[in-house]
Amino acid sequence: MSTPLVIVRGAGSALVLTQDEGGALPHVVHWGTDLPDAVLGDLAHLTGAPVPHNQPDAPWHVSVLPTSGQGWLGTPALEVHRAGGRTAPRWVATLEGGDHDATVRATASDIGLDVVVRYRLDEHGVLTVETELTNTAAEGEPVDVGALRAVLPLPTRADEVLDLTGRWCRERAPQRRPLTDGTWVRTGRRGRTGHDATLLMAAGTTGFGFRSGEVWATHVAWSGNHEHLVERLPEGAGAHAAVLGGGEALTPGEVRLAPGETYRAPSVVFVHSTEGLDGITRALVHHQRAQPGYRTTARPLVLNTWEAVYFQTDLDHLRRLADTAAAIGVERFVLDDGWFGSRRDDHRGLGDWVVSHEVWPDGLSPLVDHVKGLGMEFGLWFEPEMVNLDSDLVRANPHWVLGPVAGAPLPSRHQHVLDLANPDAFAHVLEAMSSLVAEYGIDFIKWDHNRDLHEVVRTDGSGTDRPAVHAQTSATYRLLDELRRRHPGLEIESCSSGGARVDLGVLERTDRVWTSDCNDALERVAIQRWTGLLVPPERMGTHIGPPTAHTTHRHLDLSLRMLVALGGHAGLEWDITTCSADELDALRAWSALYRELRPLLHGGDAVRSDHPDPALVVGGVVAPDRSAAVFSVVQAVSGRGVAPGVVPLRGLDAGRRYRVRVRSEAGLPAVIQVHPPAWWDAALGDGIVVSGAALGEVGLALPVLAPAQGFLLHLEGVDA
Ligand code: DGJ
Repeated sequence: MSTPLVIVRGAGSALVLTQDEGGALPHVVHWGTDLPDAVLGDLAHLTGAPVPHNQPDAPWHVSVLPTSGQGWLGTPALEVHRAGGRTAPRWVATLEGGDHDATVRATASDIGLDVVVRYRLDEHGVLTVETELTNTAAEGEPVDVGALRAVLPLPTRADEVLDLTGRWCRERAPQRRPLTDGTWVRTGRRGRTGHDATLLMAAGTTGFGFRSGEVWATHVAWSGNHEHLVERLPEGAGAHAAVLGGGEALTPGEVRLAPGETYRAPSVVFVHSTEGLDGITRALVHHQRAQPGYRTTARPLVLNTWEAVYFQTDLDHLRRLADTAAAIGVERFVLDDGWFGSRRDDHRGLGDWVVSHEVWPDGLSPLVDHVKGLGMEFGLWFEPEMVNLDSDLVRANPHWVLGPVAGAPLPSRHQHVLDLANPDAFAHVLEAMSSLVAEYGIDFIKWDHNRDLHEVVRTDGSGTDRPAVHAQTSATYRLLDELRRRHPGLEIESCSSGGARVDLGVLERTDRVWTSDCNDALERVAIQRWTGLLVPPERMGTHIGPPTAHTTHRHLDLSLRMLVALGGHAGLEWDITTCSADELDALRAWSALYRELRPLLHGGDAVRSDHPDPALVVGGVVAPDRSAAVFSVVQAVSGRGVAPGVVPLRGLDAGRRYRVRVRSEAGLPAVIQVHPPAWWDAALGDGIVVSGAALGEVGLALPVLAPAQGFLLHLEGVDA
């Protein structure tokens, strides 16, 4: 006998929970496509599983907090002990819920624990699970928390797994495998999200792609140590086949709950789609755009000084850079690393957040005033969580360096980590940053974090040290929150050696991410496509780099570099004082195009093709009402055929006609053909008018592009 079902719904998805009598932990009957109430009522009965040999004597369920006590012999959702004992809580639970929310409250009075699991499925189809655990004992041993994970069941037909990996300059590269017996777990123990963090772990039906297949995906919204897992045991997961989920990856001793204390696990989000990965992205992007405080004003075109000047911050040169930037339509000028303390290279000065008198005898005002006088916003680089040992800050406060009692951990990029959980260190950085923001009217902070963390333990003054990734991550979040509270207009970018801190935890408190230190447009095609699984284009920094990419030494035409930079929050990272008149003309036209298309580029839904030849990458955005669209077509390397063939443009309104134009301001490609396709010349002029049905079901015969070339199609709906 089960209590009535609790059903939470949103955007065509549903999570259906029920609870067996006796206060058992509730379990999920169904996570997937929404169904009418009457049908859902039958599910528990229809899916009541048999009892096979060698299994518990009665059917068991994978509960909302599955552990071996309820039958689940896979990775437990909860791992706790009190001084090595009392590891097996017996829960008495309640379940309640409304249309979009469900809450499970459970008590294990034998051990002195309370757990609360909250589910919220929003109108965009994103299910957020928040779990917290409280030590309810009045006294006695603390509760050591080894893990508190959120997992949901998967059906048998989810039989392939996609996750992402990466490294510096090649973030978020996909990897796929069949979902077989065992645990596929992606753990990040880098003290930051990591270049190799998976961003999403997705399981789907055979061959699922961007536009097809049923997909279930999860993401842990946390910038510290974390794990995503998908797990299948031969006996299944109760009536289901496998589980998908994740949580914070805790180190032994990291979370010890004294009587009355509560551990709140990071939020874990889940999304289900019957329209492939594009459906997952649509839900996640709409979810983010609906968050309070989400920046809805136009994202200004950026010039960042890093690849333009590196540490050579000469005022006259920077002024000329600003003049040139303003002349081509740049709207925000960002001064990168090297403006403070003794920071003339990356060996010293980190942590000294005072303007270098040596380089800036009159402070930053001569540059800031110049930039603002040109009508641009001013942005400044910080790396608040880091120090060089060779800095005034560490000389004065050596105990603020994060590390064990035995001494400082391994250096990396010649730097160490500031113990932000130390209230004095926290207050020092906060005040230093806050006063600079106020003094110079800084509009934007590029917030960097340039190393993995090793031996992340903090000494608390009593001669002992404790694991501290959780404390450090929470302190960083507090610092971000407080700065934003004090300076409500301030925008912040999450950068971490390029794109090593990209997650929904940091995105809750920042406006965009630096996608990668790789400004090679060809590498960027893949990096941006996969980062865009979760990150809306307007939150993804996409800059034009120099003709020869600094990180790959590959030479690429300006046309491709301009095209690819339109895939996100566009900018430049190039000493444009060296540009020819032709290059500046091209950049001026490109920047005007960025401003013209910005509402569409930054407000639409991602559409990515599943072209069988990976050499051809077609993708774009379609306005939510499908009245307009932009597609980029990139021939990354030589295609396998003589010509790419006829390629459909998906996601359009089949009942509508569109004017299709090739926008030459985004750059025109070099081609290897005698004649272009029939439609090309007209599309370069006033455009061709064709039906969405023809474009979506049949498509366009593409020109024969040379490798590393591409072009931009702009579609506008025309009245019948
Ligand atoms: C790493 C960042 O990703 C770069 O863009 C640049 O800001 C450097 N750090 C500066 O040290």
